[in-house]
Amino acid sequence: MSERQRRKLDHVRLAMAQPGMRTGPSGAGWEEVHLIHRSLPELAIHEIDLRTSICGVALAQPVMINAMTGGAHGVTAINRDLAAVARELNLAMAVGSQTAGLREPEVQESYRVVRQVNPHGVILANLGADATPDQARAAVEMVEADLLQLHLNAPQELRMQEGDRDFRGRLERIARIVQEMPVPVVVKECGFGVSRETARQLYDAGVRAIDISGRGGTNFVWIEDRRAGVVGADPGLEDWGLPAACSLAEVAALDLPGLELIASGGIRHGTDAAKALALGARAVAVAGPVLARQQEEGAAGVKSYLERLLADLRTACLLCGARDVSSLQRQPVVLTGRVGDWCRLRGVDLAGLANRQ
Ligand code: FNR
Repeated sequence: MSERQRRKLDHVRLAMAQPGMRTGPSGAGWEEVHLIHRSLPELAIHEIDLRTSICGVALAQPVMINAMTGGAHGVTAINRDLAAVARELNLAMAVGSQTAGLREPEVQESYRVVRQVNPHGVILANLGADATPDQARAAVEMVEADLLQLHLNAPQELRMQEGDRDFRGRLERIARIVQEMPVPVVVKECGFGVSRETARQLYDAGVRAIDISGRGGTNFVWIEDRRAGVVGADPGLEDWGLPAACSLAEVAALDLPGLELIASGGIRHGTDAAKALALGARAVAVAGPVLARQQEEGAAGVKSYLERLLADLRTACLLCGARDVSSLQRQPVVLTGRVGDWCRLRGVDLAGLANRQ
């Protein structure tokens, strides 16, 4: 087994070992985002319609399974289970980074299985932002993707012994790929959050969809430290990055015309999803907890977890009187505690958000 394949298996194993992965408080800040309860909602649950879209690609649900794996024989079964649930529940799904598939053709099956199991579903290809347009095209073709995710993960790379050390030129590469790709491009973080400064750079480079993937859920500094055998004593960079709720609120407040946001990082429950949509995301994405269910209970566990999340999301919409995603995005949202402090200092209009009609 190659070093890269071993790393893929390590990531799955260690993501599961991270404290609180399954249910615990995430620290992403969603608990400090509050929606306003309506005692007289004047809605029936069957009227809630959560269809949405990303860059013109229609999504039946505003919840996606985010990029995780592929690139080793041992993970094909994971992607098969996730794709089966994505098909059943009509959810978009991203594959994990396809660099391994481009370098080692014998592991392409671990990605292709997602399209085989779900021939008509929305699938996102995934590569690092250092990819070339040719690599990006090949990744899209490998899974017949509807969208391409380009991931940014500088803290993880720097923490990996074998990781990149030179991050120059990525914005230029992203701009070229956005121009040349046959499918829309989503730029995503990997649990460290997108700041408004980064969002503006991406926007100016032509990017029109960002997954803010903030801190508070899966933590790749924690994971890479465990891979390297550093345990416990020195948490170092483990608290690096923007908490997901802060990242989403500050990027949404930029209000850049035509920029579409996806929220991820520590989304664990349907209410977290509702809060993220209200703060301006068009869809949310979940990674770690989905993998945890797959590892412990297989596809059935993933399905029941996501069904519950979707049901709770619909319930939360009804309880704040929102019939669809765009009416949820007009609801008042109150930001308190550390999220409120952060957002106030970063120029988000907290009173405007809390009192909008
Ligand atoms: C990831 N994530 C990820 N992201 C990406 O763009 N390419 C990748 O290859 C991977 N690989 C990966 C492996 C595993 C095991 C996990 C759990 C996650 C990051 C993922 O898409 C997401 O951005 C973060 O995990 C934050 O979301 P959660 O896990 O808090 O819901």
